[in-house]
Amino acid sequence: MPGAIYAEGLVKTFGDVRALDGVDLDVPEGTVLGLLGPNGAGKTTTVRCLTTLLRPDSGKAVVAGIDVLKQPDAVRRSIGLSGQFAAVDEYLTGRENLQMVGQLYQMRAKQAKARAVELLEQFHLTDAADRPTKTYSGGMRRRLDLAAALVVSPPVMFMDEPTTGLDPRNRQQLWEVIKQLVSGGTTLLLTTQYLEEADHLAHDIAVVDQGKVIAKGTSDQLKARTGGERVEVVVHERDHIQTAADVLRGFGKGDTTVEEHTRKLTVPVTGGAKLLAEIIRELDTRGIEIDDIALRRPTLDDVFLSLTGHVAEEKPEGNGAQGGRKDTRKEAVK
Ligand SMILES: Nc1ncnc2c1ncn2[C@@H]1O[C@H](COP(=O)(O)OP(=O)(O)OP(=O)(O)O)[C@@H](O)[C@H]1O
Ligand SMILES: [Mg+2]
Repeated sequence: MPGAIYAEGLVKTFGDVRALDGVDLDVPEGTVLGLLGPNGAGKTTTVRCLTTLLRPDSGKAVVAGIDVLKQPDAVRRSIGLSGQFAAVDEYLTGRENLQMVGQLYQMRAKQAKARAVELLEQFHLTDAADRPTKTYSGGMRRRLDLAAALVVSPPVMFMDEPTTGLDPRNRQQLWEVIKQLVSGGTTLLLTTQYLEEADHLAHDIAVVDQGKVIAKGTSDQLKARTGGERVEVVVHERDHIQTAADVLRGFGKGDTTVEEHTRKLTVPVTGGAKLLAEIIRELDTRGIEIDDIALRRPTLDDVFLSLTGHVAEEKPEGNGAQGGRKDTRKEAVK
C-alpha cells in the first residue's frame, strides 16, 4: 500500500528548465521524510506539486490516500502547508491571522480563538499577539506562518524550510513541536538546508539533485554508504609519516591516505574508540609524536557532499548548528 505521501515519476518543466525529472517518493504514515538538495534541486517544486499549487506535466501523486491531480480540493482539506516564504497577512495581527485560518477551515469563532491562544503561546508570540504582523521580525513571521499551518491538525503536513531564518533556540523549540506533532500520528514532508535538522527529525531522507531523487534511506544508511569510520592522525614530524603509515596499515581496513603538507594520515577503520587507544599505544611504542588524533564518523554533510558535489548551503545564522562544515570542505579536495 502506498504511504501517506506518494509520488511516482513527477515531471515539471518551466520553459527549458526541467525542475522535476521523474521524482519518486513514498512516505509511510506517521513518519517524517527529510528532502535535501542544493539550491534549485527541485525541493520547492516537489512540495508545490504535492500540495496542489502546481500541476506536474506528468506523473502521479497521492496524498492522504487522495489522488492529487484528480481531487485537488479534497487533498487541500487534508493537508497543512508551511511554505518557504512566510505567507501571513501583513495588516492583521498575529492573533487575527490565526483566527482567520481557523475560520477558513470552518472552525467556530470560539474554537478558532482558543486555538489561536494556544498556538501563540506555543510559538512564543503571546506578547506580540495584538500587533500587526508587518511589525514582526523575520523569525516571528516564520513562527506565525508555522503556527498557521498547525491551526487544524491535518493528517499530512508539508514544511518547506521551516526553520530557515530562526535562531538556534527557536529552531530547537520548533523541533520539539514537530516531534510532538509526529508522535500524534502526523505524516510530514520537510525540506531543509540544515542537515542536522534532517538527522534529528527525519526517519528517512531523500536527496534531490537536478530534479531527481539520487539517494534514499535512513541517515545511518546514507552515512554507511558514504564510508564508515576513519582515524585521522597528524604526526609532529614529517620524517615520521612513513612509519606512522606502516602502523596504520596494520589497523586499517582500507588504504591510508597521506596529506604531506599537513602531515595528516587518514585510514578507514572499524572498532571505534578501543581501536583508537591501541593505535595511540602503538605509535607511542614506535616513538612517533602526534599533534592530533581523532576518530571521525561521516556526517550527513559528508553524505551530501559526496552525493551532490556541493557543500550544503551556508546560512549566516546556522553556524552553531552546523559545526564541521569547514572540515567537510577540506575533505573534498583531498
Ligand atoms: N515558477 C518558476 N518559473 C521558472 N522556473 C522555475 C519556477 N519555479 C522553479 N523554477 C526552477 O526550477 C528549478 C527548481 O526550483 P525549486 O524552487 O524547486 O528548487 P529548490 O530545491 O526549492 O531550491 P532552494 O533550495 O533554493 O529553495 C530551479 O532551476 C528554478 O529556477
Ligand atoms: Mg526551495
